[in-house]
Amino acid sequence: MPAFTATAPAKIILFGEHAVVYGRPAIAVPVPALQARAIVRADVRARPGSVRLIAPAIELDATLSDLPPAHPLRRAVELTAETLHAPHIPSCQITIQSTIPVAAGMGSGAAVSVALIRALAAYLGHPLPSETVSALAFEVEKIHHGNPSGVDNTVIALERAVYFVRGKAPQLLSIHVPFQLVIADSGIASPTAQVVSDVRSAWQKNQAEYEELFDQIATIVTNALILFEKTGLTETQGDYLTTLGSWMNENQALLRKMGVSCPELDRLVEIARQAGAYGAKLSGGGRGGNMIALVDEENKPSVIRALEEAGANRVISTAIGGD
Ligand code: PMV
Repeated sequence: MPAFTATAPAKIILFGEHAVVYGRPAIAVPVPALQARAIVRADVRARPGSVRLIAPAIELDATLSDLPPAHPLRRAVELTAETLHAPHIPSCQITIQSTIPVAAGMGSGAAVSVALIRALAAYLGHPLPSETVSALAFEVEKIHHGNPSGVDNTVIALERAVYFVRGKAPQLLSIHVPFQLVIADSGIASPTAQVVSDVRSAWQKNQAEYEELFDQIATIVTNALILFEKTGLTETQGDYLTTLGSWMNENQALLRKMGVSCPELDRLVEIARQAGAYGAKLSGGGRGGNMIALVDEENKPSVIRALEEAGANRVISTAIGGD
């Protein structure tokens, strides 16, 4: 029997993290250079109904029924089986591999769920549409995040740039004029659930101030949507990048006020700007994880070098848009 394999990309949030939890829009894009992969193989020698899960990155090699019911991988398998009305999964071995850093704001949990749900659905003979895969991954995200907005599972399952508002159908976004980002990992693992919960406490204590911060972020996201949707630019490429970069800087300043940055991220952001980036900000939950910097062909090498010299864990560059 053949192996059923599915992959899912990492993601970054260009604008709008955290505010998106409170009903404001966000723009997120997939990063296909980093991927999660799930491989499902029938295991005819195993006892009937046995599902073995192997995820070397988290040193997991366990039988499904031995995992706690709220384990994200177990939940993803069971939700898929329930959705397909397949109470008895034919014995199989599921291997998870991923190059996406964990707890780093790049959607590693959502990407693993999406890849796993897709591969398992194919193994069970009923590939699922992306919207259903996203909805199931959202259920698993609730374990990881507590109160997820749904942006991660959406952008990762659809594998397209999205303009996302919680609870609404996502708008697929065509970013007509391409640009390049450098993505650098602070190396600090920061579980999103904790930061989201801290923002919730701060918001409860000071709703007026936080609502105002969220509104200011929403304005940036709306302006970015308008800019991205323009087919022909009236401004030069340099002006386009300068505008986008200044919005990234503004968004970062608002995230700092919200208390979700940290000295290490602030430092990497500052170093990227000094090395010539048009703008830089954290991406995702914050307090660690990744930052992104907007670059062009000319300043990309110096920004990458500066971030590497500053001790960033893994520095990659990726092209966004051009569709
Ligand atoms: O999973 P992360 O760390 O990329 O962050 C998700 C973005 C947040 O807005 C902080 C949370 C959410 O559910 O939208």
